[in-house]
Amino acid sequence: MCGIIAYKGPREAVPIVIEGLKKLEYRGYDSWGVASVSGKRIAVHKKVGKVGKAVSSEIRLKGNTAIAHTRWGTHGGITEKNAHPHLSCDGKYAVVHNGIVENYQELKKKLIGEGHKFVSESDTEVIVHLIEKEAGKGLKNAVQKVAGELKGRSAFVVMTAEGEIAASRKGSPLIAGKGNGEYYIASDIPAFLEHTNKVMYVDDNEMLVIEDSEIKFYSIATGKEIQKRTVEIDWKSESAEKGDYKHFLIKEIMEQKDTLWRAINQDESKIINVANEIKNAYGTFLVGCGTAGKVCMTGEYLFAKIAAKHLNHAIASEFPSYEPFLTSKTLMIAVSQSGETADVLEAIESAKSKKAKVISLLNVFGSTMMRVSDEFFIVNAGTEKAVVSTKATTAQLAVLTLLAYAAAGKLGEGKRLLLDTASAVNDMLNPRYEEHIRKLAERLRSNENIYIIGRSLNYPMALEAAIKIQETSYIHAEGFAGGELKHGPIALISKGTPCIALVANDHVKDETISNAMEIKSRGGYIIGISPENNDVFDYWIKVPDAGNASPIVNIIPIQILAYQLAVLKGLDPDMPRNLAKSVTVK
Ligand code: F6R
Repeated sequence: MCGIIAYKGPREAVPIVIEGLKKLEYRGYDSWGVASVSGKRIAVHKKVGKVGKAVSSEIRLKGNTAIAHTRWGTHGGITEKNAHPHLSCDGKYAVVHNGIVENYQELKKKLIGEGHKFVSESDTEVIVHLIEKEAGKGLKNAVQKVAGELKGRSAFVVMTAEGEIAASRKGSPLIAGKGNGEYYIASDIPAFLEHTNKVMYVDDNEMLVIEDSEIKFYSIATGKEIQKRTVEIDWKSESAEKGDYKHFLIKEIMEQKDTLWRAINQDESKIINVANEIKNAYGTFLVGCGTAGKVCMTGEYLFAKIAAKHLNHAIASEFPSYEPFLTSKTLMIAVSQSGETADVLEAIESAKSKKAKVISLLNVFGSTMMRVSDEFFIVNAGTEKAVVSTKATTAQLAVLTLLAYAAAGKLGEGKRLLLDTASAVNDMLNPRYEEHIRKLAERLRSNENIYIIGRSLNYPMALEAAIKIQETSYIHAEGFAGGELKHGPIALISKGTPCIALVANDHVKDETISNAMEIKSRGGYIIGISPENNDVFDYWIKVPDAGNASPIVNIIPIQILAYQLAVLKGLDPDMPRNLAKSVTVK
């Protein structure tokens, strides 16, 4: 998490990095800071809160070289002191950092013993003191030495009072951009895309130095120079705006009218080839985190039901427990919106170390996962700005459904089903539908708990529904497999407890309705999300009858509910507390 941007060139640097920082806010938004060099002096400005709220005229820093950072705190409270950039004791070096220095306690103790004074609780501060300590060796050697000493996944940028910039990447994203006599370093391309589309990818275990208007790349391990290609990115500058919508979240939910069509529109021969690889693999793991992890779980059900093929899903952070089963015949399918999630990248690294093949399902083109995977699908949901994932989720579900049908030799049938589903979603997303769900949100807004049940394909969606409600409304929400309820959780039900039942017209419909009955008999208030109404429902939200695409249609009303709950409770649906869109720490 955390967003980094640096600029060195002939223009005033601070407005450029502040604007860039606003494009990186999805990576963390608890505090931010900027440092620039002017007259061989580094000046710093830091604030708690979102950079989006920054007033440019209040930032009085000048100079042609600057670094900036938006933070998602890991070590130390959300304070100005802990915000980046951090300065060395002599004030001649400033550092911004994304990731975690896992051995910072030991390094800090040593540095304090050597006389360095720390002013923050942040792990990052050790980097700038280490640079100061090694500075006599020259900037390149100092960065190489320090990068080698840090444990854990991280990327950092150093700025010197002489106006030099250097950066290191070990497991966290970093990209360089080249303009006309100017350079940018950032965590992600949109941060500088309005200025240049010429990028140089910094790979893992590489570092760079910008001196005398020249950029040079080096291996951290050997110090040897690496020649880099400049790639021209064929993207428009980040144009995702809210338009007539009040929030990105509702805009992105509504965009599912289009995004499903785009997700389905994949290269058919590639779908068939990958489906064959899944069929022939000796063990396939679907790996992802959070919502993408629930998509992976749905994938396991989809392949079992549609293609009679057993796949394993694993939460990426738990994947180390499965590593002993990796061989060169294993296939890993990594699912990620951002393509940058640290735990998924680690799972990919361990798969690759065993020579297993890795195929990714991604939304962000050019992401690290795209570059390290053997093959990839872009799910084409378009930029997802809201931290809460919606349109990327249903696009991922659509591509996995397509793959499952292809694995069963029924790609045509799968495509027809998904096209019908996209069309039904298009009809479903109208203002009357939204209003019906808003009324439900009114009923639920003051509740302390909401439970969700589902079976089979809709069990993972019950878990995903809980994530959506937790993120936006801060209400305690929990999803259960319908059949599991009576093995414990039913004790939580009392008069009026809301319980959402995800019911599809499938082989588990009757059992799910029975589970809803069991809850209702104990006083529960039943909200049915289903193609047909049922006596057990106290509140019914109709969804299209989508067969094996039911996870897609069942999660959409929950997304709207989550949005409406945030709005009714006066919360920010786009940037919920404590979260970040791209989770680049473990
Ligand atoms: C929830 C959400 C997160 C992400 C998770 C993985 O709405 O968005 O749970 O799904 O952080 O992120 P990606 O998909 O970028 O790997």
